[in-house]
Amino acid sequence: MSLSPTLPMALPDLPVARVAEIAPFDGQRVQIRGWLYGRRSKGKLHFLQVRDGSGIIQAVMFKGDVDEATFQRADHLTQETSLIVSGTVRRDERSPLGFELACDGMVVVADAAPDYPISPKEHGVAFLMDHRHLWLRSRRQGAILKVRARIIKTIRDFFDGRGFLLVDTPIFTPAACEGTSTLFETDYHGTKAYLSQSGQLYNEADAMAFGKVYTFGPTFRAEKSKTRRHLTEFWMVEPEAAFMDLDGTMELAEDLICTICRDVLADCGSELDLIDSIRSEAEQDRQLKPRREALAAVHKPFPRLDYKDAIRRLHELGSDIPDGDDLGGDDETILSRENDSPTLVYGYPAEVKAFYMKRRPDDPDRTLSVDMLAPEGYGEIIGGGQREDDYDTLVAAIHKHGLPMEAFDWYLDLRKYGSVPHAGFGLGVERTVAWVCGLPHVRETIPFARLMDRIHP
Ligand code: 4AD
Ligand code: MG
Repeated sequence: MSLSPTLPMALPDLPVARVAEIAPFDGQRVQIRGWLYGRRSKGKLHFLQVRDGSGIIQAVMFKGDVDEATFQRADHLTQETSLIVSGTVRRDERSPLGFELACDGMVVVADAAPDYPISPKEHGVAFLMDHRHLWLRSRRQGAILKVRARIIKTIRDFFDGRGFLLVDTPIFTPAACEGTSTLFETDYHGTKAYLSQSGQLYNEADAMAFGKVYTFGPTFRAEKSKTRRHLTEFWMVEPEAAFMDLDGTMELAEDLICTICRDVLADCGSELDLIDSIRSEAEQDRQLKPRREALAAVHKPFPRLDYKDAIRRLHELGSDIPDGDDLGGDDETILSRENDSPTLVYGYPAEVKAFYMKRRPDDPDRTLSVDMLAPEGYGEIIGGGQREDDYDTLVAAIHKHGLPMEAFDWYLDLRKYGSVPHAGFGLGVERTVAWVCGLPHVRETIPFARLMDRIHP
C-alpha cells in the first residue's frame, strides 16, 4: 500500500470523461480519474463505484477483461483510493446515471489508509463537522453545495441582467452597520477596525454613483446564539437602488426568489431528489414537503403582512409576543408555516431596527422596512427597506443609537450632495440554501461553516 501519489508512466492514452458529461461518450473508450466511493465483488466481477467530483459511475471489471494483477489489486482497494479507470461507456437503464463503464484497465494513484472515517452508517453531527474536510466528499453534501452554486449563479445573472452593477464593498470597516453587539473587532495598525456586518452603507454610496448596484460577499457577525439559522461568517447579496422605494424593494426580492426557485428546479432536480432521499430520522420528523413540490408551490405575489397584522396573527396563533417587539425565531417559524410562498412582513417599529431605516410618513414610530420569511418554518432570509434620506433626521438617528458621528461623516455626505429616496435589501445565501434544500441547520450549506463554537477545520 502506498499513500503517496505516483502517476504511472503508462497513463491510458484516452479522452478523460467527466461523469456528469458522460452521455456523448456512449460506446467510446474513455478514462475516468477519481476516487473509489465503494466496491463490491461477485465471483469474476468487481463493481467499483468511481467518484470524480462531478458524479459517480459504476465501473464493472470482468476478470477476463484485465490482467490478473489488476483484478487482484481491485479486490483490495480501500474507500477513497485515488485511481484512474479505463473502459467503454455503455448505457445501463438500471443505474441512476443511465451509464456504466465496461472496465478494461485500472491504475492506482494513491491508496487510502484503511481507516477512512466516514462510512455509510449514520454519524453524529459533531463527528461529521470535525471531519468536514472529508464529509464534503459524500453525495448529499455534494448535492447541497451544487444547489448553493446554482443559487449564487442565479443571483449574479439576475442582477447583471437587470442592469445592477456589481460593486464590492470593504471587509475591514471602521464602524457598525447592524448594531454594535455583533461586531468582530480587530486591530488595524493601532486603531480598532471591525469585520463587515453588511456592505449596505458603502453600497448606498455606490448607488448614488451608479444608480443600481449590488455587492456580494462574506459578512461577519459575532453572534452569541447557537441556533440553526446563525453563522458567524455568511454570504450576503445586497442590491441597492436610487429612486427605489419599499414597494420596489419587495417586488425585487420577490422576483429574485421566484427566479431562484425556477432555476434550481430546472437545473438541480436530481440534486433535490438525492437530498430528499437521504434524510436522518430527525429530519424526517419535520415532515417537509419534497423539495421539488415545495419550490414549485412558490408563486408571486407573496403574501404581505403589515407588522401590526403580523402581531395580531401571532396572538391568534398562541404567541405572547408584545406589540412593539422584534419577531423572534419562534414567531418567524410560526408565521412562515402559514403560506406556501415566502411572507413579506413590513413596517417594523423603529425601536427594533437599525439607525438607517426611513420612518413611515404616516406613523413615525415605524419604519419602511421589510423582512422576508421563508415557508415551512424557515423564517427570515431577507432583510431590507427604504433608507433615511434626510440629513437632519439621519444625524438624530445616529445620535439616538449612540454611534460615533465622526465614523459616519462620509455617509452623511450622501444626504448632503443630491440625496434621493433609495432602498435595498440583503439576502443571506446560507439560509436560502437551507430552505431550498430543506435542511435542519445552516451548517451544511457552506463548505466550511463558522459557528459560535466552531472554527475547525
Ligand atoms: O437582516 P440583516 O441583518 O440586514 C442587513 O444586514 C441589511 N444591512 C441588508 C441590506 O439591507 N443591505 O441581514 C440580512 C440577511 C438576513 O435576512 C439573513 O438571511 C442573513 O442576512 N443573516 C444571517 N445568515 C446567517 N447567519 C447569520 N448570523 C445571519 N445574520 C443575518
Ligand atoms: Mg434582519
